[in-house]
Amino acid sequence: MYFICEDKNSPVHPYMNLLFSPFSLGSLELKNRLVLSPMCMYSAKNGNTTDFHHQHYISRAIGGVGLVMVEATEVSPEGRITPECLGIWNISQ
Ligand SMILES: Cc1cc2nc3c(=O)[nH]c(=O)nc-3n(C[C@H](O)[C@H](O)[C@H](O)COP(=O)(O)O)c2cc1C
Repeated sequence: MYFICEDKNSPVHPYMNLLFSPFSLGSLELKNRLVLSPMCMYSAKNGNTTDFHHQHYISRAIGGVGLVMVEATEVSPEGRITPECLGIWNISQ
């Protein structure tokens, strides 16, 4: 896939052409180089995901980013940055 900046007269940096090209890292194959950075969402309940998370992350994926990185997900309740951070310390999570 090529972006509009293929146009030699475009003010967009030529490397932007790469943004929509595939990228592989080991066995991981990404369809493009757009990556959603991990960002604290402060929306978990007792470390569990909520409707917010489902809507937020799924909509980014549908939007077409090549890689979705989720927010900090702690292995113990004490390790959370805030009480609304995600957890992975029990089976329900
Ligand atoms: C677990 C985790 C949570 C983060 N939360 C936020 C956040 O809430 N807001 C924010 O601006 N950056 C947050 N960051 C940093 C961004 O994801 C990103 O790494 C940073 O903006 C640097 O981006 P860059 O390397 O593209 O410049 C977080 C990073 C990590 C690893």
